[in-house]
Amino acid sequence: MVYGSYGFVGNLVAQEVLDRNHNHNRGRGRDREIDMVLAGRDREQLTAQVDELGVPGRVFHLGDPDLIDEALTDDVDCVLNCAGPFSNTAAPLVEGCIRTGTDYVDITGEIPVIEGIGERDSDATDAGVTLLPAAAFSAVAMDCLAAHLSDRLPNADSLELGVDSLRPPSIGTVRTVIEGIEDGGAVYRDGRLEYVPAAWRTREIDFGRGTRSAATMPMGDVSTAHYTTGIPNVSVYAIAPPPARLALKSHRYLAPLLGSTPVQKGLKRLSGLVREGPASWSRKRGSAYLWGEARADGSNGERVVSRLLTPDVYVVTVDAAVATAERVLDGDTEDGFQTPAGAFGPEFVLDLKGVEGFFDESTPDSDSRTVDVPS
Ligand SMILES: NC(=O)c1ccc[n+]([C@@H]2O[C@H](COP(=O)([O-])OP(=O)(O)OC[C@H]3O[C@@H](n4cnc5c(N)ncnc54)[C@H](OP(=O)(O)O)[C@@H]3O)[C@@H](O)[C@H]2O)c1
Repeated sequence: MVYGSYGFVGNLVAQEVLDRNHNHNRGRGRDREIDMVLAGRDREQLTAQVDELGVPGRVFHLGDPDLIDEALTDDVDCVLNCAGPFSNTAAPLVEGCIRTGTDYVDITGEIPVIEGIGERDSDATDAGVTLLPAAAFSAVAMDCLAAHLSDRLPNADSLELGVDSLRPPSIGTVRTVIEGIEDGGAVYRDGRLEYVPAAWRTREIDFGRGTRSAATMPMGDVSTAHYTTGIPNVSVYAIAPPPARLALKSHRYLAPLLGSTPVQKGLKRLSGLVREGPASWSRKRGSAYLWGEARADGSNGERVVSRLLTPDVYVVTVDAAVATAERVLDGDTEDGFQTPAGAFGPEFVLDLKGVEGFFDESTPDSDSRTVDVPS
């Protein structure tokens, strides 16, 4: 079941499943079809999609546990949740999956959501279900890079990861960012998740196409990389040119205001002006450069750096989400809370279309300057 199937990413996911089924019927790709059902809360939008794609659909809201259970019981083996902000949708669907013995996958990049799903580990294990959040660009690509670095330096105690990809977001991503805008930043420090100011640290990083300014960001990769590798200190950076850094830093003083109801309403209204999502031509041309550094400061200061090059964020998201759902349906995952690389290993990202890597220490180390920003 693809829940949120008529959203921007949900619709691309549904079409990707149909393409893969088509390939299967022509003797290519996977050895079995996916029997897909579309789902969401809005009857009109779902009906239009059902008519267009010729696939069955199921309408249900997430406010009523009985309706969720009814929709999942019997014939649904796995839910792929594409309905974000996931702070509103993950918990009711995860609980429904645990009650009905259904595996759960989503594409969240929200730290509190991943942490919340992690807390359901033992109940999911008892129920015999897999909970695998963040099966998208963030966190599959970075999580696999983190696992690769951890394999290269097993005694690492600090992990810094970064992404260089400037692209217009979809409206759903804008809404999700607005929803979490009050939280600021987050890092793992000494094995504990800590909420820190926005752009807490800045760093000059060579992502593989020259050095660029980057700042720490509260991406879900902070949590997944920590759970996958067990490394106690994890920070995630994204490129942030000086004007963006200034805006991020002013967030510290504006956060209470940004979280207030009238400002949230205004921001959400403004988000309605954003296009639905990046067009097909833009997705074909996009790319992302990922960088990661593991350090073992306790011993003799060992340091390893690796990089990864991927297609566009939305292309990777769709490919990663469907590939993850396929592996879960094939029974390739353990029960309980899983991270992408924890479940499938670091090489998983290399199976996705157009991903190149891992490039180990392939560019000069001009990127080791970290700057703490005074709070
Ligand atoms: N981790 C990553 O790398 C990554 C990459 C891309 C996208 N994402 C995330 O994926 C999410 C979806 O993005 P998108 O571009 O597809 O957004 P979108 O076009 O706005 O679609 C969102 C979908 O979620 C549904 N939805 C939202 N709130 C709901 C609720 N409370 N109950 C039931 N359904 C609800 C919407 O249905 P209605 O129309 O009925 O509201 C719609 O079908 C966003 O949170 C985005 O940040 C993550």
